[in-house]
Amino acid sequence: MTANTIAINQMMDKFDGRHSVWLFGYGSLIYKADFPYLQRRPASIAGWTRRFWQGSHDHRGTPEAPGRVVTLIEEAGAICHGMAYLITPEVFAHLDHREKNGYLRLAMPITFEDRDEVEGLVYIATPDNTAFLGAASEQDIAAHIARSVGPSGPNSDYLNHLATALRELGRHDQHVFEIERHLAALQSK
Ligand code: SIN
Repeated sequence: MTANTIAINQMMDKFDGRHSVWLFGYGSLIYKADFPYLQRRPASIAGWTRRFWQGSHDHRGTPEAPGRVVTLIEEAGAICHGMAYLITPEVFAHLDHREKNGYLRLAMPITFEDRDEVEGLVYIATPDNTAFLGAASEQDIAAHIARSVGPSGPNSDYLNHLATALRELGRHDQHVFEIERHLAALQSK
């Protein structure tokens, strides 16, 4: 699958005709809401886990030297915590552009903290996209992040903002916090 997903996402018609749709964010969408929204609520999705396995050609790296950003990987029993936004359909043009490097809009159940559930959308970079980098140790991911930079700034900012946002949500993410620890050690050398 091509790394630019704009055209595929524009054909996603599942929520056509709706005035508003819930969007679940688990990466930069938690800490950088550069779009209008009607409501924002902490939420989670079941069966998926957050991993720094996606290459970033356009934000935290370049096509020649991609950075590493998060995507979701299916894992039975896993719960991924993040932030859900109630948005209107006009916002998708901006989001499709922002998430164009491999992320597809997928429909799935979103659970709020009070256990209410809705069907909403999540941008996920699936392993068949050409920018997917896949698994590596947390130490190797930290080293990769330490040397990466792109048009949106240093890759380390992405990681640190995400770790801070997860702490603010009161959510522990071992993968993210372990990479943060390795990165801090590298940067203090
Ligand atoms: C998300 O935050 O939900 C998608 C990945 C990203 O933009 O970092």
